[in-house]
Amino acid sequence: MRIAIASDHAGFDQKTQLVPFLQGLGHEVVDMGPETGERVDYPDYAEKVARAVAAGEADRGVLICGTGIGMCIAANKMKGIRAALCGDTFSAHFTRAHNDANVITMGARVIGPGLAEFILDEFLKTPFEGGRHARRIGKIAKIEEDESHV
Ligand code: RB5
Repeated sequence: MRIAIASDHAGFDQKTQLVPFLQGLGHEVVDMGPETGERVDYPDYAEKVARAVAAGEADRGVLICGTGIGMCIAANKMKGIRAALCGDTFSAHFTRAHNDANVITMGARVIGPGLAEFILDEFLKTPFEGGRHARRIGKIAKIEEDESHV
């Protein structure tokens, strides 16, 4: 898959470590920054990755900040994005299987590098189950659509 990844300064080291991990799994990785660990604003990087996924330029997005929360809130503002904050492999599995999440966010100040790799691997290899879950995703999309016309 083609994976877009970005972080803020708090997630920079973990993002840097996850790029070769993803490449090792056979994915094409687009690193959308930042290039250094200088202080930056997480919404700027959430927007870059969310836009790439929403536009179909990337199959999945990965966003790392201190808690993963700011990235998740910001990415979910983009139409068509279903971003999930994951700190365990169970959540990573079921947000793919049931929510068809297309962006994962993680907190580098919450989980260590080893767990981040396990979570990401689970997220990327788990397919969406469809069926009744597709109906629910459709309802989320309807809320999004209705709100954009208010
Ligand atoms: C940066 O200090 C921190 O606020 C950010 O990385 C993130 O945790 C926000 O949700």
